Amino acid sequence: MNMQISTGKGIHPAICIAGKVILYTGAAGGLGTATTLSFLRAGAKVVAIDNNPEKVESLIAAAARENLQGLTVRALDLSDLKGLRVELDRVSAEVGGFDIVINNAAIYPSKNFEDYTIEEFQAVQCVNVDAGIVCVQAALSHMRAQGWGRIVNIASVTVYGGWSHLAPYVQSKGALVGLTRAWAREFGAYGVTVNAVSPGAFPTDAEKIHSDPESYTRFVLDHQAIKRRGDACDIANALTFLISDAAGFITGQTLNVDGGWVMH
Ligand SMILES: NC(=O)c1ccc[n+]([C@@H]2O[C@H](COP(=O)([O-])OP(=O)(O)OC[C@H]3O[C@@H](n4cnc5c(N)ncnc54)[C@H](O)[C@@H]3O)[C@@H](O)[C@H]2O)c1
Repeated sequence: MNMQISTGKGIHPAICIAGKVILYTGAAGGLGTATTLSFLRAGAKVVAIDNNPEKVESLIAAAARENLQGLTVRALDLSDLKGLRVELDRVSAEVGGFDIVINNAAIYPSKNFEDYTIEEFQAVQCVNVDAGIVCVQAALSHMRAQGWGRIVNIASVTVYGGWSHLAPYVQSKGALVGLTRAWAREFGAYGVTVNAVSPGAFPTDAEKIHSDPESYTRFVLDHQAIKRRGDACDIANALTFLISDAAGFITGQTLNVDGGWVMH
């Protein structure tokens, strides 16, 4: 995948992330792996947090195949918030602080609302939202001191309605959209922008919760204005723009990367 973004007159010089340190949760997942590789190709350093050993191995192997430098992996469980904080402080000291945080990890149990326990709701909030709060707290003093930072929360097309049986997940994504706005308001004075990217439907593990893949693909294409399935590259391009200097006047926004599914 070529991460160079053409403006028609060559690469826009402001779309540059070389040398930036990105704290990226869920970085070994379906969208995370491709995006991490594209960040590394663009010369960024990525601190990848993911607790799935096979996916982590495969991310490391993919980076090694291309001889990409700058990948640090921590196989941490984000639901251990205290352990996360301790480890992030340690890694932050090693890498000289996080310039960019991308809160991307998520779990997405699916069942009837009345069958969820409150503990299951809390477990989803813990990984999808609370861990992101810890990541931002671990990064903010460095961002503030240097007067520059980027935070991107990965939301979901599901916050706009259209799916049932995902109540804790949708709740968590709604919380991330709210935090995006609250953080954007509070951190703007420090030169830190905060935005959300809301993916539509991408064919990753997240889609395996749907039992009939063919009819799900039909459903997706019916709803999208653009009649192809999304690719992780589409997310990587949006993220690269939002974390670059080129997006320095954009904050508090939710960018739907969904082939024209949601248009508001
Ligand atoms: N794929 C889609 O269609 C789609 C649609 C809308 C939103 N999203 C969002 O995009 C993001 C990435 O999704 P994806 O499709 O790559 O999913 P994915 O399941 O492939 O990736 C999520 C990653 O998070 C990691 N993770 C989960 N719990 C963790 C924990 N406790 N500690 C550490 N790591 C943990 C997983 O190991 C996995 O690698 C998620 O926030 C998801 O909600 C995806």
